[in-house]
Amino acid sequence: MASVIHVETNKKYDVEVGAGLLLTCGDKIKAITGTCRAAIITDSNVSKLYLNKVEKSLEQAGFNTDSFVFKAGEGSKNIETLSDILEFLAENNYTRTDILVALGGGVVGDITGFAASVYLRGVRFVQLPTTLLAMVDSSVGGKTAVDLKAGKNLAGAFYQPEVVLADTETLKTLNRQELANGFAESIKYGVLFDKKLFDLFDCDLDDEKLERAISECIAHKARVVKNDEFDLGERKLLNLGHTIGHAIEKCSGYATPHGHAVAAGMAMIARASEKMGLAEAGTSEKIEKMLLRYNLPVDCDIYEDKELYFTSLGDKKREGGSITLVIPEKIGGSVLRKEAVADLEKYITLGKKGN
Ligand code: NAD
Ligand code: GLY
Repeated sequence: MASVIHVETNKKYDVEVGAGLLLTCGDKIKAITGTCRAAIITDSNVSKLYLNKVEKSLEQAGFNTDSFVFKAGEGSKNIETLSDILEFLAENNYTRTDILVALGGGVVGDITGFAASVYLRGVRFVQLPTTLLAMVDSSVGGKTAVDLKAGKNLAGAFYQPEVVLADTETLKTLNRQELANGFAESIKYGVLFDKKLFDLFDCDLDDEKLERAISECIAHKARVVKNDEFDLGERKLLNLGHTIGHAIEKCSGYATPHGHAVAAGMAMIARASEKMGLAEAGTSEKIEKMLLRYNLPVDCDIYEDKELYFTSLGDKKREGGSITLVIPEKIGGSVLRKEAVADLEKYITLGKKGN
C-alpha cells in the first residue's frame, strides 16, 4: 500500500510513496491534470531504465508524450541544458495547458521544475523521483534551480509540482554510492527533528521499513515547507551540513556528490558545535557512527580550512556580514544560529577530526 503525504504550500499537492507507482503514473497524473501533452524530461541513465514504462503509462492514460534526454550528472544542471529544454518545448509548440514530467534524480527534478516555472511564464509539472535523495528531499517543497559558474543552485525559483509519485522500486537500480547520498539527507531529518526516525536508520531496512522511513522524512519536510515555503526561517534548518557541504562540493569541482558532501558537513558542524559547548556531549559521535554505517564521509582533510572558508563565502545562505548556521544541539533537536561570516572558519577548523 502506498502512503500519501499532503503538502500544504500555496499550492496543495500530494506526495505518494510506494512500489510500482511508475506503472500507474499515467492514470494518477491524469486524475490531477487531465489529459494533455506531456514532455518527459529525463537523463541518459534513467531514460534507459524507466522512460519506456512512463511513456507507456502516460499514453495508455490518454496523454501525447515527447521526451527530452540530457547527459546524466550535476555537470548538466546549467543554463545551457535549461535553454535546450525551453527551446525543445517551444519548437514542439508546448502550450500552457500541457505538462512537464521530471523523471529522475535531483538534477532532473531541479532543472525541470525551473524550466516549468519560466516556460510561458509557468506551466504545470510533476515529479517522478527515482533516487532516494530526490524522494526525501529535492522533489518536495518546490525549490528548483540550475548551477552557475560561481556556485550551485544560484539561479532558480520556488515552484511547486502538481504531484510527486515516488516509486520505491526504482531504488533497486541505484548503486550503493547514490543510495548513500540519499541516506545522508534522510539521516539529516532524524538529527534535526526525530530521534525515533534517526534510530530507525540504525536497523537493517527491509522494503517496508525503508518505505516508512522515506514517508516520515517527507512528512517532516512537508511540515517545514508548510510553515516556511519561501525559506525565510524554519526551512533554513534543512540546510544542516550544507554550508560546509557546499564548500566541499565546490572545492572538489563537484566530483564529491551532494549527499557525501552534506554528510561530511553535518559531521563537521556537529563536532564543532560540541567542542564549542553548543551541543549535548556525544551528539557528534552518534551522527558519525550513523553516517559511517552507510559508508558516508565524516571529515574533510583534503582541503585547507582557509580554502573551505573562502569557498563557503559564495554560499546562498550568507546575508551580508552574517550567515545562519544549523546547530544540532542533540539527536532530534537543532537550532538556527546567526554568526558573523568570519566565525565560520572557527567552525570549519573545530569541525575537523584532528583539531
Ligand atoms: P542525480 O539526479 O544526478 O542522480 C544521481 C545519479 O543516479 C545520476 O547519474 C542518475 O542518472 C542516476 N539515477 C537516477 N535514478 C536512478 C535509478 N533509479 N537507477 C539508477 N540510476 C539512477 O542526483 P541526486 O543525488 O538525485 O540529486 C542531487 C541534486 O539534487 C543536486 O543537484 C542537488 O543540488 C539537488 N538537490 C535539490 C534539493 C531541492 O530542494 N530542490 C534538495 C537536495 C538536493
Ligand atoms: N533541500 C532544502 C530545502 O528544500 O529547503
